[in-house]
Amino acid sequence: MSQNLPEGFLIGKKIELRPMTKEIFKNLHPWMNDHRSRRLARHVLPVLEETTAHWIQEGKSAPSGVVMGIWTKFSQDSPSINIGFVSIFEIDWINRHGELGINLPNPTCWGQGYGQEAVNLMCQFSFSELNLEKVMAHVLEINIGSQKCMEKNNFHKDGTLRNHQFIDGKYENMTIFSILQHEFKPLEP
Ligand SMILES: CC(C)(COP(=O)(O)OP(=O)(O)OC[C@H]1O[C@@H](n2cnc3c(N)ncnc32)[C@H](O)[C@@H]1OP(=O)(O)O)[C@@H](O)C(=O)NCCC(=O)NCCS
Repeated sequence: MSQNLPEGFLIGKKIELRPMTKEIFKNLHPWMNDHRSRRLARHVLPVLEETTAHWIQEGKSAPSGVVMGIWTKFSQDSPSINIGFVSIFEIDWINRHGELGINLPNPTCWGQGYGQEAVNLMCQFSFSELNLEKVMAHVLEINIGSQKCMEKNNFHKDGTLRNHQFIDGKYENMTIFSILQHEFKPLEP
């Protein structure tokens, strides 16, 4: 994608969040079945392009969720590219909470601060625009990168679901994280 893109829906320092479309997903789809990311994202069955495209479409239109594409920012040295997506789903509008999901399926994008910032932008959106009171996230105990994304954004560890997911032949624990509206801090500009 080029520098001619309009500014994103939500703007961070390293990334922007843009509406996710089926066309954008086409380029990301091959990475969705990469063993390194799919085991952490809990995609046990093969991810088909048409199924996920349908889910992305639903997230855009249904009031129970919002999906955004994560894009790197354009600079002189590199174009803006889509590296994954972040979502708030299962929104409970009466009790005002939702579940955060994130996936950067290409492991070469990991460890550069994109995940942490995408979580921060999505929380900011959830609290200051959707007016949620709580954002939750279920994270595997073995998923250190995801846990750090939550901890660095001030999420609280609410508890552990023991032996909750069967991964690579053994059961793994799942940590439930949450953050309340008043606990949230936007990243320093
Ligand atoms: C989890 C995920 C979103 C993290 O994104 P990311 O861009 O790599 O995260 P960040 O670069 O912001 O890293 C946050 C912290 O975690 C650390 N980290 C990232 N990946 C790590 C890994 N595999 N092992 C150990 N630490 C890791 C980073 O070094 C950083 O710590 P630091 O600030 O102390 O240096 C990304 O790895 C991913 O999408 N994985 C596959 C799908 C998945 O697991 N989704 C989440 C399901 S709950």
